[in-house]
Amino acid sequence: MILSSKSIKIIGNFDSLLKLIIFLLLLKLKTKAMYRTNTCGELNMNNEGQDVILCGWIQKSRDLGGMTFVDLRDRYGITQLLFNMDTNKELCEKARKLGREFVVQAKGKVRERSNKNLKMVTGEIEIEVAELNILNRSEIPPFTIEEETDGGEELRMKYRYLDLRRNTVKNNILLRHRVSQEVRKYMDSIGFIEVETPVLIKSTPEGARDFVVPSRMQPGTFYALPQSPQTLKQLLMVAGFDKYFQIVKCFRDEDLRADRQPEFSQIDCEMSFVERNDILETFEGLAKYLFRQVRGIEFNEPFLRLPYSEAMEFYGSDKPDLRFGMKFVDLTGLVKGHNFAVFDSSEYIGGICAGNCSEYTRKQLDELTEFVKRPQIGAKGLIYLRYNADGTLKSSVDKFYSIEDLKKWAEIMKAKPGDLILVMAGDKKKTLTALSELRLEMGTRLGLRKKDIFMPLWVVDFPLLEWDEESKRFYAMHHPFTSPVPDDLHLMETDPGKVRADAYDLVINGVEIGGGSIRIHDASVQKLMFKVLGFSEEEATEQFGFLLNAFKYGAPPHGGVAFGFDRWVAMFGGQDSIRDFIAFPKNNSGRDVMLDTPSQISKKQLDELHLISGTKKRE
Ligand code: AMO
Repeated sequence: MILSSKSIKIIGNFDSLLKLIIFLLLLKLKTKAMYRTNTCGELNMNNEGQDVILCGWIQKSRDLGGMTFVDLRDRYGITQLLFNMDTNKELCEKARKLGREFVVQAKGKVRERSNKNLKMVTGEIEIEVAELNILNRSEIPPFTIEEETDGGEELRMKYRYLDLRRNTVKNNILLRHRVSQEVRKYMDSIGFIEVETPVLIKSTPEGARDFVVPSRMQPGTFYALPQSPQTLKQLLMVAGFDKYFQIVKCFRDEDLRADRQPEFSQIDCEMSFVERNDILETFEGLAKYLFRQVRGIEFNEPFLRLPYSEAMEFYGSDKPDLRFGMKFVDLTGLVKGHNFAVFDSSEYIGGICAGNCSEYTRKQLDELTEFVKRPQIGAKGLIYLRYNADGTLKSSVDKFYSIEDLKKWAEIMKAKPGDLILVMAGDKKKTLTALSELRLEMGTRLGLRKKDIFMPLWVVDFPLLEWDEESKRFYAMHHPFTSPVPDDLHLMETDPGKVRADAYDLVINGVEIGGGSIRIHDASVQKLMFKVLGFSEEEATEQFGFLLNAFKYGAPPHGGVAFGFDRWVAMFGGQDSIRDFIAFPKNNSGRDVMLDTPSQISKKQLDELHLISGTKKRE
């Protein structure tokens, strides 16, 4: 092809233009990289002699006369800056005026420190600063931004963005990020797809109170925020999505505790064409993967599957902490009939063997008795039997039981010399619960609940229904779409209280990490369930018509589970409270003290929403 002189000229111009664009791009890139060349957490002796630029916050400074040392902090770590009075007086004086939390840019050379701190990644080097730019000033922070802070809980919550600068809190959020990425990686690898579901929905039946949102466009009507995406994920199964998951915000208006927030996150999952075993195996896989990736812990054996009835009988709890033993022993048959009125009038008498407590004093035993008598536990008393190291036996009921009798107690409890046996009696349900509290207390006192030991198990076969004495009706223990165990279906009408649910919880170290069930997909079983729950057909249609309708168009057999994401992360982080694993949590009264909310809204907003203005006077 022959090119004309005109086209050659155009190409020539084009070539220069291209060069200009490349030059400008490079210039832009260079300018962009100028804020910093490195982070405060990465430089070491390999970088000695390099010219670097760092940006960050002033953690602290030390003025040693001829030298000023400044710790510069960013997300990645801390690097020491050095200002030398002899070589640059003006700069050193500027550095001396830096306040805590000022944001600065420092340019200088990496050099070996004379006074090394080998505990820090950057502890062998410092930056001899040649240029210092103050990017922003800071007021004196309301508390010290250090590990051992002087700030109380309320103050730290109010200035949460400052609290998040502290290493521990920051690391908790980084851990949360890590876990969420690992969850997504694993779920994707086994064919689950992440689908978002709406936040403005109709009330979901998870048992707590809903947070509601008034509709402006449809006066007098309300959305509810999801307590979980339960019904929506079931609809996704009807839609044929087969394997769904989502890390999703849920909202529940309930009393708060260390492991409960009004808005929290779930790893919510659902699968089609599965039975219980498929679900347990799939999510045991997730749990094992997370333990391996996040904590480096291998679980080679399958998780224990403990029926609910055994969990209650032997641990008095549907979320037993299996890091230690102290399994309950039923002593009812053995100890009754010795003229000890407390036992003789009790429905149930149970004991735990707390192991070697030979050091336990009388005072400590009295404290334990006070512990079980607290109103939250409500027991009337506590009976002990000491199996002394010398083989003798001593109990608080020696009057009623001979040494031979007490020997039998020790035998049935499998006690060894030095062991302490604690016994409680009364109404069965209450006594099991009280014994459970006592067991946990003893586990804590004896240091058996170690944060770096994990004992996961599945609790299975929950009752389908719970009887409420006050309203004289059954409630779904999980939710109304939970399937009965097929073998118990025939009891639905004759003895509903005995029906077991095809439901399961993942419990780790006494914490309910997750729960789920196989769902009812058969319209006639669902109808029966509503009937047992006392819903009329109209009520069922009114509340769940959308789901029942969908089930008319080919609902596959399905089931799922949801894990408390915050709880799981907190457990990986070795803590009980989920609050510090949430960037902006609420306090115990459900307030966000940083945003200062819940708060009043203007009369105009109330009017637009067709809500009657509150009692307080507004502008
Ligand atoms: P469930 O109500 O058991 O099941 O909730 C699942 C898990 O969510 C966590 N969780 C919470 N975490 C923090 N704060 C709270 N207020 C809170 N409430 C619950 C717990 C719990 O195990 N839709 C069903 C699941 C299903 O059937 O698939 C559900 O939400 O760790």
